[in-house]
Amino acid sequence: MSKPIRKVVFPVAGLGTRFLPATKSVPKELLPVVDRPLIQYAVDEAKEAGIEHFIFVTGRGKTAIADYFDHAYELEQTLASKGNTDALKMLTDMRPPAGAASFLRQQEPAGLGHAVWCARDLVGNEPFAVILADELLKSSPGCLAQMVEAYNETQGNVVGLLDVPPEHTDRYGVIKPGTRNGKIIEIEDMVEKPKPEDAPSTLVMVGRYILQPTIFDHLSRQDRGAGGEIQLTDAMARLIGKEPFHGLEFDGVRFDCGNKVGFMAANVAYALERDDMADELRDFLRTVV
Ligand code: UTP
Repeated sequence: MSKPIRKVVFPVAGLGTRFLPATKSVPKELLPVVDRPLIQYAVDEAKEAGIEHFIFVTGRGKTAIADYFDHAYELEQTLASKGNTDALKMLTDMRPPAGAASFLRQQEPAGLGHAVWCARDLVGNEPFAVILADELLKSSPGCLAQMVEAYNETQGNVVGLLDVPPEHTDRYGVIKPGTRNGKIIEIEDMVEKPKPEDAPSTLVMVGRYILQPTIFDHLSRQDRGAGGEIQLTDAMARLIGKEPFHGLEFDGVRFDCGNKVGFMAANVAYALERDDMADELRDFLRTVV
């Protein structure tokens, strides 16, 4: 039996330049889809997958994320005194339990690989998950829960995958697939943001990873890759062939909320599933589309 996946790392130190000026003072991960910040969906997905410890790699200007997960004493007192038990319960349920969340800073936005490497001491010598909160994945069960199930079969490293149109490969990490067993695909290689003509497939990584702690040895090299950043994809590529490495073609819908159209689409899709707003929104959309 391999070690269970108990910890998740949320790299939330990116600059979010595609959402300026909104992200000048509000972290991208706190932008709401309907009425929940992106990071809340990510934490809920991790909880559903059985994660017990939540590690946030933040950066300058991101203290609002730690505040968001803290006890809002005055607000909760006010809600209690007004008898607003529904809102109070919502705030209590969304918080990680005491001692289950850690926050550390990536001192410079040197890339996703560097952000994950910053969490090495908090993760320690055990396999762990990584969730990119700006990739909102809508599915039941959640993507990470699906991946943990796959990991229990394959062990080693597992990444979430999705098939995309060929013209989109230069936005994501793309894998070279090997043998397929249902939705589980052996990974032979991976490359970050290849041009469509250079891409080894159209299967891209969706911002969900289960990794062995050996990844930190490779990230320690601090090699710069695509965009001059320390890329997680480059370090993962070095594990291939040395440890089991699989992808899970996840069952669900992905909204790339790091880009504006994906973010707007997520808001519409989630709002249309809400009883308290679907009819009104649908009527409005009919008038404008
Ligand atoms: P992105 O490539 O989306 O970068 O990062 P970004 O800075 O967030 O956004 P843009 O491109 O400037 O608009 C993918 C994920 O990696 C994290 C981001 O927070 C995001 O979740 N990240 C990226 C870090 O934590 N640190 C980094 O140095 C870079």
